[in-house]
Amino acid sequence: MTSSTLTAALRALPKAELHLHIEGTLEPELIFALAQRNQQTLPYPDIASLRAAYSFTNLQSFLDLYYAGAQVLQTEQDFYDMSMAYLQRVHQDGAVHVEIMFDPQTHTSRGIDIEVVFAGLARALRQARTELGLSSYLIMSFLRHLSEADAFACLESALPLREQYADLWIAIGLDSAELGNPPEKFQRVFERCKELGFRLVAHAGEEGPADYVRDALDLLQVERIDHGIRSEEDPALMMRLRSQATPLTVCPLSNLRLKVVNDLTQHNLKRLLDQGLCVTINSDDPAYFGGYLLDNYTQTIDALDLTDVEIRQLAANSINASFLPPEQKQHWLSKISQSPLPA
Ligand code: HPA
Ligand code: ZN
Repeated sequence: MTSSTLTAALRALPKAELHLHIEGTLEPELIFALAQRNQQTLPYPDIASLRAAYSFTNLQSFLDLYYAGAQVLQTEQDFYDMSMAYLQRVHQDGAVHVEIMFDPQTHTSRGIDIEVVFAGLARALRQARTELGLSSYLIMSFLRHLSEADAFACLESALPLREQYADLWIAIGLDSAELGNPPEKFQRVFERCKELGFRLVAHAGEEGPADYVRDALDLLQVERIDHGIRSEEDPALMMRLRSQATPLTVCPLSNLRLKVVNDLTQHNLKRLLDQGLCVTINSDDPAYFGGYLLDNYTQTIDALDLTDVEIRQLAANSINASFLPPEQKQHWLSKISQSPLPA
């Protein structure tokens, strides 16, 4: 077990969270509170029985519950409350910067205006900047189980809001069911997003093969891979990820809960790190996977027996892999190098 001294040092270590789905931060308590506020009936009698349903066999079994849970989000205040709860939580974990994914299609398909989604998220993020000193960006993500046309429609509906949210919305992502929805399906829409000047990321190599990681780099031209742990199956790809310093936003507790790995001690994070890849630690959907950012650090450090050098490297990677401007990266990197870790 990580000692309380190490946990305190890890909390004080500046770090960024780069792989976080805001809809995945809806705790059962908040789902019930929002359902009540919006006069909705949930198919679970109480909070405990909803939490008890969080036992997953694969990515899809989680996604079914995740999309169902998101249906309680109706108003700008709902999106604000969800985001503020997460920001306060991750601030307590010692995050200094977060890059948050959100899925407009999950909401617009239920008749929620995309402006409501942006407004609620942005109000919380801007407040956290001023009140907590926590910086953030938004990554608008397309759902890959839906069509290319749907992704284009989502982009078109969001573009009129770009200027209003230019301080936050700087990137595009791709998430949801990976298998059977390869990167090539979204090649044209990502090309358009690149022309528009967005930074690009995509989920690949979580359940999907290493080929999807390569195609995300070649066809979607992403700068960062979300998950990417199956890259290890392709030595040539590993060499490329290393030489290009392509960041992987790894989510150990997510991988455990979705049965991508059987046990945290079997996780390949340390091997990826040892091979010189820019690996980062993130929580993915913390309300569903049993741990926020700091829990992901402590449990992974315990399971893989990571050294102080590796821990510091993970924190530095999270800053380097972020979309922060160079001077802010430098600021946090020097803080990381000065942060004490118990021997
Ligand atoms: N993978 C794909 N889509 C997702 C995830 C994930 O881990 N979390 C939320 N949407
Ligand atoms: Zn994810």
